[in-house]
Amino acid sequence: MKVISVTAALGLFAVSTAIAGETVEINPPVEGSISRAEGLEAWGRIYEVASHPRCSNCHVGEDNVPMWSGPAYGKARPHGMNINGGESRIGAEFILCSTCHTTKLEDWDNANQKPHAAPRVAMDWQLAPVEAEWFGKSSVEICNQLRDPERNGDRTYLDLAEHLDHDLILHWAWNPGGGREPAPYNLQDHVNDVLAWGVAGYPCEND
Ligand code: HEC
Ligand code: HEC
Repeated sequence: MKVISVTAALGLFAVSTAIAGETVEINPPVEGSISRAEGLEAWGRIYEVASHPRCSNCHVGEDNVPMWSGPAYGKARPHGMNINGGESRIGAEFILCSTCHTTKLEDWDNANQKPHAAPRVAMDWQLAPVEAEWFGKSSVEICNQLRDPERNGDRTYLDLAEHLDHDLILHWAWNPGGGREPAPYNLQDHVNDVLAWGVAGYPCEND
């Protein structure tokens, strides 16, 4: 029952979320087959995704303030209504993100189609860990963070690729609805780029 309602509500990308883990193929290129130049090209595309508002608006720094941007806002601005994620990054100190970004099943119909409604996915909405601060950061800064096990949740490129597939928020970022611009490329392309970048030895432009 649960699976059916979520599937119905998520519409087009129902298949990918319902069987997360089977939709994105994780096929890393053979070790040694990706040059540094190719790795850097893949990184360039990864940066376009990471710095896009559908990603970076949650990957904010230690002020714990999510950002808003979109057709109605022009430039990015702090989340309205004085929202602050607190150190918990889920808003526990103030008001929980999930109060508005609800996961309640009865609310799923057309969950993300209405402009200006709070985006919803089938997991608790929250800020990314503060170590993964991307908003306003340069390509070199994000590149160094994402290859640093101490700041990327102790993940190899394979772990990153799997995380990308399993995270429902990411499925939203490429299908945001409500007139929001999706993140560039698509989830499979992004996973392929992460794998290629990793196999190339995680090159950054400052190496
Ligand atoms: C709603 C807020 C939100 C949005 C939007 C969001 N993320 Fe995240 N992100 C998170 C949270 C929360 C975590 C921590 C999850 C975990 O570690 O299991 C996270 C962790 C990550 C990680 C793990 C590595 C690290 O450095 O911590 C990657 C990679 C990532 N996100 C990529 C993306 C990409 C790519 C997009 C856009 C396509 C995106 N995120 C959009 C909240 C968000
Ligand atoms: C009081 C209700 C409320 C709370 C609490 C709330 N939000 Fe939101 N959020 C909204 C609404 C409404 C929108 C849609 C705004 C729009 O599109 O005009 C939104 C949109 C967003 C967006 C999408 C921005 C974009 O441009 O893609 C992000 C990211 C976000 N919220 C993060 C958070 C985080 C993280 C928390 C908790 C720290 C949180 N929100 C708490 C109501 C809320």
